[in-house]
Amino acid sequence: MIRTLNIAHRGFSGMYPENTMEAFKKAVEIGSDGIETDLHITKDGVIVICHDETIDRTTDGSGFIKDYTYRELTEFNAGHGEKIPSLDELMDYMKDKNLLLNLELKNDVIPYENLERSTIDKIYEYGLKKNVIVSSFNHNSMQKVKKYDSSIKTGLLYGSPIHNPGEYAKRIGADALHPLFSLVMDKATINDIKRNGILINVYTVNEKSYMKKLIDLGVDGIITNYPNLLKDVIEKLTDK
Ligand code: G3P
Ligand code: MG
Repeated sequence: MIRTLNIAHRGFSGMYPENTMEAFKKAVEIGSDGIETDLHITKDGVIVICHDETIDRTTDGSGFIKDYTYRELTEFNAGHGEKIPSLDELMDYMKDKNLLLNLELKNDVIPYENLERSTIDKIYEYGLKKNVIVSSFNHNSMQKVKKYDSSIKTGLLYGSPIHNPGEYAKRIGADALHPLFSLVMDKATINDIKRNGILINVYTVNEKSYMKKLIDLGVDGIITNYPNLLKDVIEKLTDK
């Protein structure tokens, strides 16, 4: 029995415009176990979904999200005629599905003042506490989340090596580590993290050979642009 969770990175972003409702719905339709997505705050305090701090790369507009109102942002095309979604739209879609929702707070470049508090309020509003894991490259922010509510699950993102990651995560009170997958490709590292009681969700794994290796190593979740490929890999390993 393979228990590795299949988490769609920015939705099914390998085939549909990233971080759009289309990409989220396609991920759910093909049977992903969860969705990873990225959060920012508009000028008028609305949490919206986009990877970058600006809308230049992913829409037909330009400029910083923090300088637009939500209403203004909805005028832009995020691909296939899709709009930049609000967190409300995604949560409304997810609220009756028992799937994982990984909300990455994009507060490592712009320190959006109320992103933690506002995200937690949305989690309560939609009754999604048991489904959500909040993550960030900003580990101070994850400690702030725990101060507001210690029962909200948190994950520490990192893209370069850290010393004793399992012990570190435990010490600062996180539930999970979310490493760049190449940083945990050995059994000793995985075992060390698990010994500390910390979950491991790796990003971003788009090749089947790496998916197989990471499943074999026993990671808890794989974040991928191609949940269809990961589904294939899991099904084939299950058939054996
Ligand atoms: O949460 C995993 C992954 O999304 C972190 O990196 O830059 O794709 O948001 P990024
Ligand atoms: Mg992300």
